[in-house]
Amino acid sequence: MKALLCERHGPPEALVYREVEAPLPGPGEVRIKMAAAGVNLPDGLIIQNLYQVKPALPFTPGSEVAGEINALGEGVSDFRIGDRVAAMTVHGAFAEQVVVQADRAVKLPPAMPFDVAASLLMAYGTAFHAFRQRAVLRAGETVLVLGAGGGVGLAAVQLASAMGARVIAAAGSEEKRALALAHGAEAAIDYRNEDLRERLSDWTGGKGVDVIYDPVGGAMAERAFRSIARYGRFLVIGFAAGDIPSIPINLPLLKSASIVGVFWGSFLVNEPQTHRHNMLELFEFYAQGAIRPHISRTFPLSDSAAAIRWIMDRKALGKVVITVD
Ligand SMILES: NC(=O)c1ccc[n+]([C@@H]2O[C@H](COP(=O)([O-])OP(=O)(O)OC[C@H]3O[C@@H](n4cnc5c(N)ncnc54)[C@H](OP(=O)(O)O)[C@@H]3O)[C@@H](O)[C@H]2O)c1
Repeated sequence: MKALLCERHGPPEALVYREVEAPLPGPGEVRIKMAAAGVNLPDGLIIQNLYQVKPALPFTPGSEVAGEINALGEGVSDFRIGDRVAAMTVHGAFAEQVVVQADRAVKLPPAMPFDVAASLLMAYGTAFHAFRQRAVLRAGETVLVLGAGGGVGLAAVQLASAMGARVIAAAGSEEKRALALAHGAEAAIDYRNEDLRERLSDWTGGKGVDVIYDPVGGAMAERAFRSIARYGRFLVIGFAAGDIPSIPINLPLLKSASIVGVFWGSFLVNEPQTHRHNMLELFEFYAQGAIRPHISRTFPLSDSAAAIRWIMDRKALGKVVITVD
């Protein structure tokens, strides 16, 4: 089979696409014939050895996959050959065949296309876990989404709106702000050039925002936190800007606010039942038309290194997906 390989750490241009032996599922594992794989910013970090997960070389990047099961490992009883599934892989998804632990896979509704399934998993799984279990978001609350035009950002805009919240989207380009507005945000901010505090104060009538969803980090985090409401929740999602922020601890005290960590990968491993339930609710949102992944670009598997480069260069709008050639 063909796969993208990281043989030495470096930029996407150092990756190689070549023939490798197809993997065999071990006990408790299934093999998926890849139809689509979502591309995420961590794919660009893991190949440079800058991510928290550090697989041994050589490895295949790619953290989420959708396709049909074509082999079952010993002891697997929940799945059959031919089942349509999506699964979180951490790495390994940019290959024609992907082996995953069976308990990481979820069966797809018959009407859900594979590219949609590959887009729903990590971005929407993270945003939903963040709002449902970590922030305990209530209808009518206000939500600020930073990096709102990216993968996890746009998912958060759609989901917070679908959950009845009022959403303000912060993004760095006109195109990304327009996209967030088209996907449920009530207002949008150019967070590089506008006065964030003034805009958020105006938008919330001086109260501040109830929930802040931050996949960007860097200097933006503290600026945003200063506009949080009393009893607000600041969701730590990621550090796309590169720097891990240090928010002065007197700020949460002054607002009786919380800084809440969100680690979706750890959640789905440690709480598989709740994760499965979340996915079923997400599928229901999709069936009702309440969420619709925006796939701005699709790359063939043979060009998946270019897809990682596309995300790293901040060009991605919503989701980017790999499909088999
Ligand atoms: N906590 C979890 O469980 C979890 C799960 C999934 C992902 N994540 C994290 O979420 C973050 C976003 O992932 P993603 O796949 O959604 O990425 P993405 O689609 O590339 O979106 C990231 C957004 O961050 C902004 N950004 C600011 N500085 C950037 C920089 N130097 N390089 C790239 N983007 C920059 C960009 O928005 P503007 O251009 O508008 O500024 C971009 O749209 C990553 O840090 C990832 O590790 C966390």
